[in-house]
Amino acid sequence: MTEPKFNDAEIEAGRLLFARPFVFVKGCVSIADLPEPDRIEIAFAGRSNVGKSSLINGLTGTTGLARTSNTPGRTQELNIFESQHAPLRIVDMPGYGFAKAPEAKVKQWTRLIHSYLTGRQNLRRVYVLIDGRHGPNANDQSVMNELDKAAVSYQVVVTKADKPNSAELKDAIAKTRAEIAKRPAAHPHLIITSSETKFGLEELRTEILALLHQ
Ligand code: GTP
Ligand code: MG
Repeated sequence: MTEPKFNDAEIEAGRLLFARPFVFVKGCVSIADLPEPDRIEIAFAGRSNVGKSSLINGLTGTTGLARTSNTPGRTQELNIFESQHAPLRIVDMPGYGFAKAPEAKVKQWTRLIHSYLTGRQNLRRVYVLIDGRHGPNANDQSVMNELDKAAVSYQVVVTKADKPNSAELKDAIAKTRAEIAKRPAAHPHLIITSSETKFGLEELRTEILALLHQ
């Protein structure tokens, strides 16, 4: 793999950024609820149950910061978290492609996700999470299409790398890489993670820190 590697000082700075407290600010059900765009935002997007909230907890080392669940559809609002020490806001998004909630709810979430992802001026990067057991599906493709169209910078993160066997993971990674390769707004480097084993979290923290310094 041709992964860009960070030096020890960069890794340590990334660790420190996330070792300092993040707090839950609010849950937003509409764009009007969002806080002032006064600092850099990053958002975690992906299918329901892909592990968005777990990844935020893993990055911050805080188990209950973002609420997680076995049941897809746990996160129903744009949940806002802020660093107490750095001008960084993290947005945990509702999952897309969740069909078991009432139709009106799903429509409302889909509209909210779309407006946020394509219209937020201080949104520096979207992390699009793809399940390491499956690779990208049609819902993932349509979100990436939107981000490409709106020229919003995004980076793909494979989640739950501890779950599939190595052949399945390899297959999901290959399919995900093929998807990224054809997309103009996608960061070319794929990050592989597991919130369970903490694999890849150090690298993701360092990537996020680099955004603050851009
Ligand atoms: P919604 O809010 O419903 O869209 O889901 P989400 O994407 O926030 O997923 P969440 O973090 O709630 O995780 C869903 C389930 O997957 C939970 O049962 C987590 O414990 C589990 N999970 C998340 N990440 C990992 C991982 O890296 N490895 C394993 N084995 N399980 C994980
Ligand atoms: Mg969630």
